[in-house]
Amino acid sequence: MAASSGYPALAELKGRDFLSSTDTTAEQTAALLQLASDLKAGRTRIDLGGRSLGLIFSKASTRTRVSFTVAMARLGGQTIDLNPQVSQVGRGEPVADTARVLSRYVDALAIRTFAQEELADYAHWASIPVINALTDLEHPCQALADYLTLQEAFGELDGLTLAYVGDGNNVAHSLMLCGALLGVNVRVGCPKGYEPDAGVLEQSRQLAGTRCSIDVVHEAVAAVRGAHALYTDVWASMGQEDEKAAREAAFSGWCLNEELVAEADPRAIVLHCLPAYRGLEISAGAMEGSSSRIFDQAENRLHAQQALLAALLGGT
Ligand code: CP
Ligand code: NVA
Repeated sequence: MAASSGYPALAELKGRDFLSSTDTTAEQTAALLQLASDLKAGRTRIDLGGRSLGLIFSKASTRTRVSFTVAMARLGGQTIDLNPQVSQVGRGEPVADTARVLSRYVDALAIRTFAQEELADYAHWASIPVINALTDLEHPCQALADYLTLQEAFGELDGLTLAYVGDGNNVAHSLMLCGALLGVNVRVGCPKGYEPDAGVLEQSRQLAGTRCSIDVVHEAVAAVRGAHALYTDVWASMGQEDEKAAREAAFSGWCLNEELVAEADPRAIVLHCLPAYRGLEISAGAMEGSSSRIFDQAENRLHAQQALLAALLGGT
């Protein structure tokens, strides 16, 4: 079936890029989660008829790389690994040339890189959908899987509160933007100096309007109190390896542990995008405890990205 036939909100996504959580409307984001849920439950099937996705990953990846590869296989398509080390990208072939050539071969590109501007440059030159597989600014595919996991736990998202404790990074940005679209209150708790980008905060608040709130606080307990999801991510993201020691000092006392879980709603779930460092941003107990949905969350990358690919490629 066409991805949009039972999901009219998705029709307009065919052929479009997904560079940011804001590239889908509130209605489209909710429809993507519904399609992901239906695909996961086997209530619908989509055949992409042998189409190809190119993966250009300039940073390491386990979940994103494998989940995109398996998602395409399950949709009847295939993935081609265009790792910069084995392609001419690593030797400096310009984005303008690479993007136009690859557009003649593959049907979509998933790109993991540093600058959001480089991703936008690919999207400018490519005539096929370009997907953000993580940049320094955003990780929008991750946020889809995260809110799918929260929706599975609570049935619906509107009015829930997600507390993100840690660095105001790419993952936090997409959680704020996507949460705002879905009516989820997002509270970011972080030490001073590690706040989310001010522009992303403003954009999130505009998207949220009066439907939900997006807040930044500098106290962990204040962030998590009564929340329905507690989320954290690494203190030093890829590309910040040199800052690791300074960040570990700055984030001392910010570990997502059982004491913080006890301050949340009794039904609260614990999330982490992974990879995780136990004993730093998350305790082993919080990670392995009964509230943890971290491995369901990792699985949901597969279902959420199947839905996204089906929508962008207009599967038949
Ligand atoms: N969460 C996530 O994106 O994991 P990878 O870096 O392994 O892809
Ligand atoms: N913030 C982390 C996420 C990894 C999936 C990073 O960018 O390294």
